[in-house]
Amino acid sequence: VFGKVSKVVCVGAGYVGGPTCAMIAHKCPHITVTVVDMNTAKIAEWNSDKLPIYEPGLDEIVFAARDRNLFFSSDIPKAIAEADLIFISVNTPTKMYGRGKGMAPDLKYVESVSRTIAQYAVGPKIVVEKSTVPVKAAESIGCILREAQKNNENLKFQVLSNPEFLAEGTAMKDLANPDRVLIGGETSPEGLQAVAELVRIYENWVPRDRIITTNTWSSELSKLVANAFLAQRISSINSISAVCEATGAEISEVAHAVGFDTRIGSKFLKASVGFGGSCFQKDVLSLVYLCESLNLPQVAEYWQGVINVNNWQRRRFADKIIAELFNTVTDKKIAIFGFAFKKNTGDTRESSAIYVIKHLMEEHAKLSIYDPKVQKSQMLNDLASVTSADDVSRLITVETDPYTAARGAHAIVVLTEWDEFVELNYTRIHDDMQHPAAIFDGRLILDQKALRDIGFRTFAIGTSP
Ligand code: NAD
Ligand code: UGA
Repeated sequence: VFGKVSKVVCVGAGYVGGPTCAMIAHKCPHITVTVVDMNTAKIAEWNSDKLPIYEPGLDEIVFAARDRNLFFSSDIPKAIAEADLIFISVNTPTKMYGRGKGMAPDLKYVESVSRTIAQYAVGPKIVVEKSTVPVKAAESIGCILREAQKNNENLKFQVLSNPEFLAEGTAMKDLANPDRVLIGGETSPEGLQAVAELVRIYENWVPRDRIITTNTWSSELSKLVANAFLAQRISSINSISAVCEATGAEISEVAHAVGFDTRIGSKFLKASVGFGGSCFQKDVLSLVYLCESLNLPQVAEYWQGVINVNNWQRRRFADKIIAELFNTVTDKKIAIFGFAFKKNTGDTRESSAIYVIKHLMEEHAKLSIYDPKVQKSQMLNDLASVTSADDVSRLITVETDPYTAARGAHAIVVLTEWDEFVELNYTRIHDDMQHPAAIFDGRLILDQKALRDIGFRTFAIGTSP
């Protein structure tokens, strides 16, 4: 039914669609890859010298492949009509209204793309769900596509699940050398053929034994479970960080000792001010909602605990700052180092910085923020969405260098682990601050002893003074 894939289209030119398609175009010169999006301004940026997202290594690959076998376009109908294989890579944010509000992922964008495909497809298409979705989402996509098939016998569809495991900041490395690629599909002859076609694309650079094929539902569920396990490790270590602060144990020593057990492993055990990013919270909540819908309240409650600890960790850190600053931060200037949800990205979605700053704003602190990659307008919008535009204009300033941000401040709060924060001249910074000057390290990147020698009062997650 399905011929050899020579034209790939991706609907959704975001953090996943852009980098993933750039990698496919880079590794498969024989395939034409077109990325489309309904956001025409974003497509214009993908076609410009300044790409809409910052990701190490992305510019080089895009600039080399663009207009050769990689195209960015707003002409969605044309791209769909011509494609052999279509990735659906649109956003699936937590719903903010109606049933499942605050828990379930909003599937309206995925559904809308399915309908667009049904409308403009002209021949056989392999449709690949790349967005993270709840189990059985492929069934809904398939249902919409089968309806179109009824009226046009030239149409043939197979829906595959191919979740993405890249992490922001390391997306290009993750895509070039993935731990695994996961492809779920039907076990019918057409289903197996569609899976084989997608395997063939990845085989251009991924060893065959790292390409896992499963049934559709296992693939959809595995994506949610992988993110839930990763988030759970962070909440586990963060919960223990509180025990460390109360006992004299050191969280980095505990993580090292525990992680040395090869069954546990050392990765993803870095205590922090809480995980952020567009996916961990969304996907754990999606799993919780799914379990509630399946009438499995004990499973739902178990995973909800991961989110509860994360919210508590953010609050706990903000409370610690207030307590250490003599129980009042009213009108005090506090410098915030880092706003992105992790280093090497300009992405701020669900960043813990937003919530820590919100707590400090509620206490009327004056925050002066510096982040090397986040735009000022982005910070102000994020903060206004959890407080008010009025509070933001009264309490927030954004600086373009860390020394200015810290000048005259009572404290520095490190919320993102940017490498450049380690290299700063803290003697100079200390001289320009109010005294006693404090540093709160929410990322465990600074040398506490060296800072104390300079004269700082220090506090770091999971350590006791
Ligand atoms: P994003 O918001 O960066 O990009 C999604 C894009 O889809 C937007 O540009 C939007 O305009 C476009 N879009 C939405 N509806 C459309 C429609 N009907 N037609 C055309 N374009 C449409 O999202 P993202 O971060 O790339 O995430 C996409 C999916 O991948 C989500 O399900 C997410 O959970 C998953 N995921 C994300 C990451 C990550 O690191 N960001 C990693 C793995 C998986
Ligand atoms: C995460 C997963 O790592 C990816 O595999 C997945 O594809 C992606 O979600 C997704 O589905 O969107 P990402 O959110 O980009 O990727 O970044 P991570 O490196 O996982 O970091 C997430 C958050 O956890 C960050 O705020 C980070 O600072 C925090 N973190 C991470 C810790 O606090 N401690 C750690 O040990 C690791």
